[in-house]
Amino acid sequence: MTGDLFESENEQPWAESRGEGVVVLRRFARADAPRLLDDIQKIASQAGFRIMITPGGHQMSAAMTCAGDWGWVTDRKGYRYQHEDPQTGAPWPAIPERFSQLAGRAAEEAGFSGFQPDACLINRYEPGAKMGLHQDRDERDFSWPIVSVSLGLPIVFQMGGPKRSDKPERILLEHGDVVVWGGPARLNYHGVLTLKKGNHALTGPYRYNLTFRKAG
Ligand code: SIN
Ligand code: FE2
Repeated sequence: MTGDLFESENEQPWAESRGEGVVVLRRFARADAPRLLDDIQKIASQAGFRIMITPGGHQMSAAMTCAGDWGWVTDRKGYRYQHEDPQTGAPWPAIPERFSQLAGRAAEEAGFSGFQPDACLINRYEPGAKMGLHQDRDERDFSWPIVSVSLGLPIVFQMGGPKRSDKPERILLEHGDVVVWGGPARLNYHGVLTLKKGNHALTGPYRYNLTFRKAG
């Protein structure tokens, strides 16, 4: 038991290319994960996880919060980035240094140097939660990639193409895996299938996802 944990924490990360502009950095965030999860809890104590409403009036199925100069929100008025948490009126908590460092290193590894995110969306999935295919397109400058970090329970990620009708590839994402997409893949449709029940040693019944963007 102890041996297993020891080995999986020391597994060396490796990179998988998934077509032009898409790289999966396996286990890239695993060594940092306990501290990343502590940072998530600190952020959530200031800006709590909440279920947002789509412009069409549907509830998102993942609970969300944000960190950074810009936070992504959705409500009846639409999707947008804003400086303040609509729930408190206060600025979003700052992106922890550890988060920015990780995102910068991951982007670099995938061929995008100098990435300095100003927005971090934090999704928390419980069993049954999912995210349908969508594009990340509320950012100002699409020359920067998206860096997406998975923590906790595994989930099946779907990476499609620039058209909604492009058949998505299914990629199982596990604890500590990081996906980077940019360049020709920046506006690819993507999402995750329904989270299955489980119990992760560090996150219990949840999967967390951090997506780093350059929004402003
Ligand atoms: C997202 O596209 O915002 C989230 C994707 C994920 O949870 O892996
Ligand atoms: Fe997205």
